[in-house]
Amino acid sequence: MKENKVLFTIFGATGDLAQRKLYPSLFRLYRTGSLVESFAVIGTARRPWSDETYREIVQETIAYLNPTEEEAQAFSSHFYYQAHDVNDTEHYDKLKDLADTLDAKYTLDGNRLYYLAMSPAFFGTIVSHLESQKMLTSDGYHRVIIEKPFGTDYETAAKLNEEITSVFAENEIYRIDHYLGKEMIQNISAIRFANNIFESMWNNRYIDNVQISIAENLGVEDRGGYYDKSGALKDMVQNHILQVLSLLVMEPPVAFSEQEIRAEKIKALEAVRVYTPEEVKENFIRGQYTAGRLADNQYLGYLEEPGVAEDSKTETFVAGKFTIDNFRWSGVPFYVRTGKRLTEKGTRINVVFKQVPVNLFKAEVGAECEQPALEPNVLTIYIQPTEGFSLSLNGKEVGPSFNMLPTQLAYRNSAEAIENTPEAYEKLLLDALKGDGTNFTHWKEVAQSWRIVDVIRQTWDQSEEGCETYPAGTMGPEAAFELLEKDGFKWIWHPDEWYRERNLL
Ligand code: BG6
Repeated sequence: MKENKVLFTIFGATGDLAQRKLYPSLFRLYRTGSLVESFAVIGTARRPWSDETYREIVQETIAYLNPTEEEAQAFSSHFYYQAHDVNDTEHYDKLKDLADTLDAKYTLDGNRLYYLAMSPAFFGTIVSHLESQKMLTSDGYHRVIIEKPFGTDYETAAKLNEEITSVFAENEIYRIDHYLGKEMIQNISAIRFANNIFESMWNNRYIDNVQISIAENLGVEDRGGYYDKSGALKDMVQNHILQVLSLLVMEPPVAFSEQEIRAEKIKALEAVRVYTPEEVKENFIRGQYTAGRLADNQYLGYLEEPGVAEDSKTETFVAGKFTIDNFRWSGVPFYVRTGKRLTEKGTRINVVFKQVPVNLFKAEVGAECEQPALEPNVLTIYIQPTEGFSLSLNGKEVGPSFNMLPTQLAYRNSAEAIENTPEAYEKLLLDALKGDGTNFTHWKEVAQSWRIVDVIRQTWDQSEEGCETYPAGTMGPEAAFELLEKDGFKWIWHPDEWYRERNLL
């Protein structure tokens, strides 16, 4: 394992993301030898913490990983805290002094990684100060990792991008979409490009429709304030869903490299049709959860959640159909849905193949019961919480008849393998340390995603009609099902049925 020499400076060091994701991920990198002695972390935020307090907090955040006392001490001794007001120029000078001291102390060779994990409103100010206060060293590398949301629409994203690119080059900017660090999202390329049976059929001649579901059973929890301004479209579709879609839609890259993969993803997103307002109304629906019951749990409606305006029109659910205007995908609908307070947490991709041209196995005339239509072959990629894939096929029912029986070839990663898999943030941090931007979003991807999503948002904002509603615990409003039914399809994944059959929903 190669040791990485680096100074991390985390803006937003007291925040939720830093505590839940960054410190544990850094600790895992430390444990596995990617970070050894030559690394240091400066945490900054407004609060006046001391190094000791900061180190205690860091230790608390990694406690669930069961470090030994010595390990926890040794790891957290690399952490330093500096209270910081992002608008105060003098504070950057202090930060620079501390950075230079730590660089010498830990022999970091001038490598600097800045992590912006705070409100995007401050990103521009921070990067411009990094430059004006001469914090960008000429010795090693300097890179910046930027948390989402990258803007709130195309215009704000473009402005933010201008601010950042006036200081950092595109290849020094790592825009995080944590879905790209997930094991099974990375597996999409393996499934597609290492299996001829799929890649040769990966087009509109053999595929009927593709379904991407990112369902969450949680509500907005304590993020009502943020979420109410964002809504599911910006929170999930603009980034995660369109990223997953681009990996499914893209052409095979010439090589499995950052440059080639990104180029194909950009082209894929450029082929996604930017709808007219009429097309938005036809192809996208939104919903908001009301109070509901699932098994023994009673849930509040969205409007009763803390931090949410009582007359909020914000959507907590989106379902839609994307159209891809290119040779490969013309005529194949890509259905997507995501929402909070749905039946189960689960991210799945269902690739539904076309039927055989003629069904030879219809019931004989006069047979006692009619044989149902053939089930389609479906490739399912399970992203989370289970990881794996399955392929549903039709076989003959054992016995004298010739009834078709849908069966499944299924593979799941073992619980042990999942347990030992690096977390998304751990992988992405390591990529950024190595200078590999493959699993980060290029500006052109972000820009195109906003163009696609902006018209949907604008159409909804200008519409007289509000959100549909759905009871907490269900898989969204009726309109989400009708969206597919009107095209003659249905959602392949329906975890709600199990509960309905047992009267638990
Ligand atoms: C985040 C959203 O980007 O992704 C959250 O802001 C959402 O609202 C989360 O809950 C889902 O991520 P995961 O990894 O749990 O699927």
